Amino acid sequence: MNTMRLRPLLAARFPDIDPARLPGGFDRVGDIAVVSVVPELELLAGEIGAILLELHPPLRVVARRDGQYGGTFRTLPLRIVAGEHRLTTVHRENGVVLHLDLARGYFSVRLAHERARIAALVRPGERVAVLCSGAGPFPLIIGRHSQAAEVLGIEMNLAAHALALRNLAANRAIRTVDFLAGDATEVLPVAGRSFDRVLVVLPYGGESLLPTAIRGLRPGGTLHFYAMQAKGCHRDALAMIETACRQTGRRCRLLEVAVCGHCGPALHRICLDAAIEPDA
Ligand SMILES: C[S@@+](CC[C@H](N)C(=O)[O-])C[C@H]1O[C@@H](n2cnc3c(N)ncnc32)[C@H](O)[C@@H]1O
Repeated sequence: MNTMRLRPLLAARFPDIDPARLPGGFDRVGDIAVVSVVPELELLAGEIGAILLELHPPLRVVARRDGQYGGTFRTLPLRIVAGEHRLTTVHRENGVVLHLDLARGYFSVRLAHERARIAALVRPGERVAVLCSGAGPFPLIIGRHSQAAEVLGIEMNLAAHALALRNLAANRAIRTVDFLAGDATEVLPVAGRSFDRVLVVLPYGGESLLPTAIRGLRPGGTLHFYAMQAKGCHRDALAMIETACRQTGRRCRLLEVAVCGHCGPALHRICLDAAIEPDA
């Protein structure tokens, strides 16, 4: 993860402030630092940003998180507090180059390990579909690190889809990936083929895509379903898969519950890996 230890350095600069209230780190996306600053220190955000730029010369922009990921496209409200006035950047992850626009599409550096985990599961010759592919990190990293026959990304945010195409062009060695624009519930059913593995990368509301994802899988294929759950719990997410299986005449066998992010003190981002079989 591109998060660095920041608090001791800031504490030395702001001796009158309780260190626990100062930012403990930041996410580095390309040359942009994304930092959380508590409301009572809002007036210091610019100064904190300037210190970050001074401490980490490769950084060119510091943006403060101004809320949670939200909206249909799951964008993050960001406010630039120091450096250049842009939220576009070029990021490298798992050997892939990614052109990103944090103002117009979702991206989280915190999913890097999860993307590598999925790529390691893909067996030679597999056909993989990634529903909700954003600017393309999952498909491109799977394409780069596996011998999949095909990796298809589907994304409805046209700005993110345009970046996915740009990223495909920027990673010329990856030849098995393709991207389609549109609502995955409409695009996947007309793809005209079934997949060995389907990912649903929409932790809030992704259950609406489950029937489509399950119908798109070959018998015995693998589903990866991302969800937000209370720590140590996966029952609700599993129940969503079971409901979609009943709707589509399938049954599921849970393979793995992967914890792939802490999204607040009591909330985890999890991925349920499940084999989807025809109903007996
Ligand atoms: C949490 S983001 C994940 C993006 C990307 N996979 C990544 O890891 O950076 C979810 C994405 O799903 C897209 N999305 C939401 N509903 C969709 C749908 N029905 N069909 C296709 N994309 C959808 C959003 O626009 C957003 O880009």
